[in-house]
Amino acid sequence: MRIIKASDYNEMSRCAANIIAAQITLKPDSVLGLATGSTPIGTYKLLVKGYQQGNLDFSKVKSVNLDEYCGLDGSHDQSYRYFMNTNLFNHVNIDMANTNVPNGIATDLEQECKRYDRLIEELGGVDLQLLGIGHNGHIGFNEPNEFFDKTTHVVDLKQSTIDANSRFFEKIEDVPKRASTMGIKSIMSAKKVLLVAGADKKDIIERALFGPITPQVPASVLQFHNDLIVVVSEK
Ligand code: GLP
Repeated sequence: MRIIKASDYNEMSRCAANIIAAQITLKPDSVLGLATGSTPIGTYKLLVKGYQQGNLDFSKVKSVNLDEYCGLDGSHDQSYRYFMNTNLFNHVNIDMANTNVPNGIATDLEQECKRYDRLIEELGGVDLQLLGIGHNGHIGFNEPNEFFDKTTHVVDLKQSTIDANSRFFEKIEDVPKRASTMGIKSIMSAKKVLLVAGADKKDIIERALFGPITPQVPASVLQFHNDLIVVVSEK
């Protein structure tokens, strides 16, 4: 595990964007595992800048996102598909057909989860997985649990996650109660994992990286990953 301590949010974003840019430069047809949340927004801004300045080419990049709210269509402004389009995909030369987010409105969500796992397999797995972390240690939407969920699955969101994410919705009742998320096995199968965390995540980062490995703190499983980079912001 490599931990990079960035002095602030901007430096954290710069480090993370540089690591992703290096990945795309070294392997232009990389499969990127992408994350949402407020933490990676600065990273995406810098990737867009890198593209606009002619330093980055996304034409062969493929992407798979970690998760999506159940019940939200991709045109809903709080869906993770919308987030990805507006924060990254619409501003770079990635082929939209190569971008993947679980379908939150699939009629058969179980089948959709299976399709998503098959898709990741067909793409040859994820080269670099970008992750944020929830205050309760969730990654993607893998919530604290009795066991580690392996593959893509539908989860009931914890009240603390609903509360935390309600800041993006008009009213708390509008926050979906369920989500589809890649599982721990899919995340752990990524060749490289890049976890970004702001200063507000100091406590949970400490528990996840140096505490016991337990499904009660899903991110703690990352201690087992052999190519984990954590970029934390000091303030
Ligand atoms: C959501 C996402 C996670 C993200 C987390 C933290 O629950 N499903 O992938 O890591 O929020 O978000 P933030 O970076 O806004 O704190």
